Amino acid sequence: MTDTKRIVLSSDHAAIALRQQIARHIEAKGWEAVDIGPTSPESTHYPLHGEAAAQKVASGDCRFGIILCGTGQGIMMAANKVKGIRCGVCADEFSARMIRAHNDAQMLSIGERVVGPGLALAIVDAFLETEFEGGRHGTRVDMIKAMED
Ligand code: RB5
Repeated sequence: MTDTKRIVLSSDHAAIALRQQIARHIEAKGWEAVDIGPTSPESTHYPLHGEAAAQKVASGDCRFGIILCGTGQGIMMAANKVKGIRCGVCADEFSARMIRAHNDAQMLSIGERVVGPGLALAIVDAFLETEFEGGRHGTRVDMIKAMED
């Protein structure tokens, strides 16, 4: 695990404004936002952006990743194809806490067309403020990791 304060952010065209708002929000909280775009509103392909963000987390360059698309679903599916990555879609704060506490997720996905900006920022805070609990949850996360080998 890396102790960097860097958080990678990415999205497809459907979530650029919310992604940039989240970047400003986490910077204000003392994190370093590594926003890898895109910035153009032209239609693009979410797998490209999910994979690019996940690689930055898997390599240790960034501690966490926050990714967005219209639903949060497609970009999450792409990120989870990168070895070592655990990414969950969250539309509520409870789930955002639980994917850290129980699943040791390093990446959070949000659907811009699903949640409003106020809730999205609260979801981000819940995710970033929660530590992994380990113990029996560590055993289960290890079982997920074993599937990758
Ligand atoms: C783009 O229209 C939309 O399909 C995408 O943002 C996302 O919701 C896919 O899962």
